[in-house]
Amino acid sequence: MTEYHIPVMLDECMDALRVSTGKLYFDGTLGGGGHTGEILKRGGRVIATDRDMEAIDHSRMKLSQITDYNGRYTLVKDNFKNVLEVLKSNEADSLDGALLDLGISSHQVDENLRGFSYSGNGLLDMRMDRDQYLSAMTVVNEYTEEELSRIIYTYGEERFARKIARAICEARKKSPVETTKRLADIVKSCVPVVGKGGHPAKKTFQAIRIEVNNELSGLGEAVSDIISVLKPGARIAVISFHSLEDRIIKQTFKMVSSDCICDKSLPVCVCNHKASVKLIGKYKPTEKEITKNTRSQSATLRVAEKL
Ligand SMILES: C[S@@+](CC[C@H](N)C(=O)[O-])C[C@H]1O[C@@H](n2cnc3c(N)ncnc32)[C@H](O)[C@@H]1O
Repeated sequence: MTEYHIPVMLDECMDALRVSTGKLYFDGTLGGGGHTGEILKRGGRVIATDRDMEAIDHSRMKLSQITDYNGRYTLVKDNFKNVLEVLKSNEADSLDGALLDLGISSHQVDENLRGFSYSGNGLLDMRMDRDQYLSAMTVVNEYTEEELSRIIYTYGEERFARKIARAICEARKKSPVETTKRLADIVKSCVPVVGKGGHPAKKTFQAIRIEVNNELSGLGEAVSDIISVLKPGARIAVISFHSLEDRIIKQTFKMVSSDCICDKSLPVCVCNHKASVKLIGKYKPTEKEITKNTRSQSATLRVAEKL
């Protein structure tokens, strides 16, 4: 059986969070429970969210097999953007650390039924939360050519966005584009294959996935919310997998670690903003980890500490 998900930069995250016995951590992206499991192994307590019920069920099953962890974790099916409500309903008013490991799990990509994969074949879906209405099927078949082009360009940073959007709209006139394979083939016909660059449909699939799951909007606010409930000295660690996510984390960390966020054109500070964190660092996976788990290659870990 293939592994549900191999946790990325596991030791780096545990070191960054300085996980220790009895302390309370928030894991906003439970996935296969790799990071949460390690926090529990090191004696910590965890409140974790995932918007995918399959991830919650899988991790609940996995963690329940270790009796020593009993009573030290709470798993909630929710969006981490609701972190403050989740903590409140679990009577937690402050945290000793928090982790976000953004994006999708290997299980979500590898399971063709979830409709995320450009290399497998399944019905177009890409919903992390299968209770939500909007799916990739709707985006691909109902969005206008202009909307598709904008999404593929903005969220996929794909320079052939217009051509791809036009090809999708032409194809769906014949019959709805229902499978990941058909979408991947349409994209392939628009993108020249150059050298060893990734799969030609990678950027388009990333873009549609971000749109379906509304991944970027509210991300910075969620990070700020988490920081607002960290205890002094507690840390937040965020792993991102592409430049759009990383830019949001970088900008948010920059803002919350600054004593002034006034427009640079102003001669004097009028914002009265006070830094609430200090930046600890930015880390990349080691060559050894990348060799063992190629999916870790694009990871960037950023860490900040509450003042
Ligand atoms: C990269 S995986 C996390 C893997 C996990 N750290 C592990 O070690 O197994 C990302 C997970 O976060 C979930 N996710 C992504 N965005 C989310 C959000 N806004 N709220 C809650 N869960 C989210 C996805 O459903 C997926 O299961």
